[in-house]
Amino acid sequence: MKIIRATDYKDMSRKAANIISAQVIMKPNCVLGLATGSTPVGIYEQLIDWYNKGDLDFSEVTSVNLDEYRGLRREDPQSYWHFMHEHFFDHINIDPDRINLPDGTNLDAEEECRRYDDIIHAVGGVDLQLLGIGHDGHIGFNEPGAAFELGTHCVDLKPETIEANKRFFDGNEDLVPKQAYTMGIKTIMQARKVLLVANGKDKAPIVKQAFFGPVTPEVPASILQMHPDFTLVCDADALSLL
Ligand code: F6R
Repeated sequence: MKIIRATDYKDMSRKAANIISAQVIMKPNCVLGLATGSTPVGIYEQLIDWYNKGDLDFSEVTSVNLDEYRGLRREDPQSYWHFMHEHFFDHINIDPDRINLPDGTNLDAEEECRRYDDIIHAVGGVDLQLLGIGHDGHIGFNEPGAAFELGTHCVDLKPETIEANKRFFDGNEDLVPKQAYTMGIKTIMQARKVLLVANGKDKAPIVKQAFFGPVTPEVPASILQMHPDFTLVCDADALSLL
């Protein structure tokens, strides 16, 4: 495990974007595993900036995203498909045919998870997987207790997650999807490189627990300690308990 200490959110974003851009430069047809959430937004902004300056070319890159809500259409403003286009894909020259996310509208979970695993396999696996971390140590939608050996699967969202997300759905709990498709820990661990970013004081306890505590399914991100090429990029606040 490599730990890169950044001063603040902007510095964390730039350092992580540097690692991703090195991957794209070294292997223009690489497979990037991407994440949604608030943490990577600054990374995407930085990559877009370098793309606009002519320093990066995404035309041969394939992307596979971590997760998607089951039941949401792509066009839904809350879908992860929408998030990724708004924050990243619409601003770079990635080939739309090389963009992959689980299809939330396929309600046949078994079929959809198999289809997604087949895609990851067909593109040759993930070269670099970008991750954020939840306060309970989740990565993707792999919540505490998740089995380490799963590929893409369908998860039931915890009541706390539904409650936390209802603000994005007009405050109406009934509109919040109750399930999601997520890459499993096995898929994440098979990525050739893993890059996890965390910022803010509120992430400090989980950063300490996940990366300096025991490896346990109760803290899903802790398994990354066993990954042969894992880099953690944190701002000073997220490392403040270490
Ligand atoms: C995102 C994802 C989640 C987030 C995590 C942290 O695709 O799967 O695991 O990475 O919830 O979210 P933020 O970055 O908003 O703190």
